Amino acid sequence: MINPLFGAVDNYICDLVAPEDEALEATIQSIETSGIPSISVSAVQGKFLQVLAKLCNAKKILEIGTLAGYSTIWMARALRPGGKLITLEYESKHAEIAEKNIALAGLSDKVEVRVGKALDILPKLVEENAGPFDMIFIDADKLPYAEYFQWALKLSWPGTLIVADNVIREGKVLDENESDEMVVGVKRFNKLLAETKEVTACIMQTIGAKEHDGIALAVVN
Ligand code: SAH
Ligand code: DHB
Ligand code: MG
Repeated sequence: MINPLFGAVDNYICDLVAPEDEALEATIQSIETSGIPSISVSAVQGKFLQVLAKLCNAKKILEIGTLAGYSTIWMARALRPGGKLITLEYESKHAEIAEKNIALAGLSDKVEVRVGKALDILPKLVEENAGPFDMIFIDADKLPYAEYFQWALKLSWPGTLIVADNVIREGKVLDENESDEMVVGVKRFNKLLAETKEVTACIMQTIGAKEHDGIALAVVN
């Protein structure tokens, strides 16, 4: 944490507008007890995703990168009646834990966890005509972020909101010589985002309970 004030303010915001219920608390607990990486979005970011999903009037949401289902639960709760969220996860262990958390949240009928490499599943979603999605959240491995964005565009329609997490990486994106593949991946993504005329896009820095990072938002024109 750069400055403890950012964490304290995040707690203040969280207590006000993003308190966790039992299912979300259990999801965080499941990450701790199973020893999977503690890289979910923060509570305030989860609530932000929920607000965005509401703003999209979302009936169909796609998520790339499930982990334990924490962001999944926040977003699925914003679905319109009869809506559906599909979330893609490579690690079967993560997917199993997520299924349990999603069930605990009472969302099993609205959420489908698909296990496999996102780059294998995304073409299948296109073939199946699973789209267009109203909101797409990219939050899996960082190296193929640009490819995920291109698939997201194929699964979109005008008004679709494409959100991508972790696109600033504590400012490491500024370093020309950075060889960390996560940073390389998000820099490629950020450049593609800027060059893509089919979207109106912005990147916001994020600071709070988690490390300094950023979130990209793109609306399909
Ligand atoms: N969105 C989650 C966090 C996701 S962490 C939340 O905020 O709660 C990133 C996840 O992407 C991890 O569970 C990881 O296993 C998964 N992942 C990594 N590579 C992947 C790939 N190629 N396809 C699908 N999922 C992948
Ligand atoms: C990592 C991935 C994430 O999605 C995140 O929010 C933070 C870190 C990672 O792989 O290190
Ligand atoms: Mg992330």
